[in-house]
Parts: sequence; C-alpha cells; structure tokens
Amino acid sequence: MTEKMKLDIYPDQASGSVAIAREIADIIRTKNAKGETAVLGLATGASPLKVYAELIRMHKEEGLSFKNVKTFNLDEYYGLTHDNDQSYWYFMHHNLFDHIDIPEENVNIPCGTMPMEEVAEWCDGYEKKIDEAGGLDFQLLGIGRSGHIGFNEPPSDPQSKTRMIHLHAITRSDAAPAFGGLENVPTDAITMGVGTIFKAKTIILMAWGASKADIIKRTVEGEMSDDVPATYLQAHPNCKFVVDTAAASALERSK
Ligand code: F6R
Repeated sequence: MTEKMKLDIYPDQASGSVAIAREIADIIRTKNAKGETAVLGLATGASPLKVYAELIRMHKEEGLSFKNVKTFNLDEYYGLTHDNDQSYWYFMHHNLFDHIDIPEENVNIPCGTMPMEEVAEWCDGYEKKIDEAGGLDFQLLGIGRSGHIGFNEPPSDPQSKTRMIHLHAITRSDAAPAFGGLENVPTDAITMGVGTIFKAKTIILMAWGASKADIIKRTVEGEMSDDVPATYLQAHPNCKFVVDTAAASALERSK
C-alpha cells in the first residue's frame, strides 16, 4: 500500500462535504448529549464552503444547535480588520456564524490587528484558551498547494505552536485574484501551529479539484518531511482525508 493516510474518495465536493458535515454534527450531538461543550477547530478558504452550507441547512431544517459549541479558527491574515471582506473573521461570520445559533463569545478567531510587539503574548493566550476549553474535539483542514495546513508553510516544525508566519509565494499567488492583485495580499499571517493542530482528537483534511491532485499525492504517498507540513498528519492517530475524484486523480490507486 503506497498510501500513508486513511483516505475516502467521493464523486464530487458536494457529496464529500455532506459526509464531513454529518461527522461534525455527530460530534456536536454526542458531546452535547453528555452535557459537554463540543470544541471545533475550523478552516476558511474555498474548501469548507459546502461543509458550512450543509451545517447551516442542518441547523435550519433539522434543529442542529450550536449553542453548546466553541470554535477556534486556524488562522487570520496579519493586518486585516474584521470589516475587510478578505479577513477570515468576515469569512466565518458571512459563511457560517451569522446563520447559526452559536453565541458570539464562543467564537475564537486569531486576531490580525494587534501590534507586532504583542503578537507572541497573544499567540500564547490562544493556545491557553484552547487548552482551557478542554482541547479540540475536532479539527477541519484544507491544504494549500505549498503543502501547508493552517498557514504552516514549509519548513514548519511539527511541534510548532500558534505564531506569526511569513506566507509562501504559492499561497500569496493563489490568494491574489481574491485580493485584486498580488500587491494587495498580506505577507504575513497568524496561524495555529502544527503541534496545536496535532492535539485535536479527530482531524479531517478535505481537498477538492484537480489543482490539489499533486499536493494530495505528495502528502498521502510521500515521506513525512518539513517540505510538505501536511505529511506530519501521517502520524496522527485519528486523521482522515476526504477528497473528490479529481483531487485523488494522481494517486497510484487511481491509475
Ligand atoms: C484556511 C487555511 C488554509 C486553507 C488552504 C486551502 O483557514 O488554513 O490552510 O485551508 O490554503 O485553501 P482553499 O480551500 O481556498 O483551497
């Protein structure tokens, strides 16, 4: 077997996203049934959009409640205010939080606007907040074509914690159209570390479309290395990749 990860292939993004949303809903219901808060790590970008749409549908049509859910987002661009439509704060409210019943005080998103000299202390505080919430029950991840998870660009350390990071050239050029040009894309971001992500009890990484086929092959079939930080997930005890046929197309099993 050349694959070093558990990997489920769905015919398309829509069906894979519904399957992921069901797993998240199960975690929420199981924790809440025990009177406990479900603690979710969330991602932004194009990949989770249909997952969030399905969670909103489940909230509206099936009574899935987020009243006893806490969330911690992976990352935020440094320098963007909440009202900037490219900020991850804006993204999360627009695509999920404004449409469900989560209390705003349960939402945690890295801050992109603190002064540089306060960044390290702020990041330590984010780590503590996750620990005090009981740790992440679940972490949702996308993958960048640089091999990043969160904004942990190569060569991120497997033990890394929440910190400021310089964005990879591929990451900035992939973001350029949304920002109306490369010159408008922030150069830095605040991100949970690989070590922070690794402490999550369950992890799902999703990837859709042919543009992710090469990085999925390198992550799933390649050796663990800091050239592709996502390969560290090969060592996580409860991590699964959920991809569509296009993102799986370069894998040996698809040939
Ligand atoms: C976003 C994040 C990133 C993205 C990745 C893929 O919060 O942490 O790692 O998941 O860059 O982005 P999309 O989904 O836009 O292809």
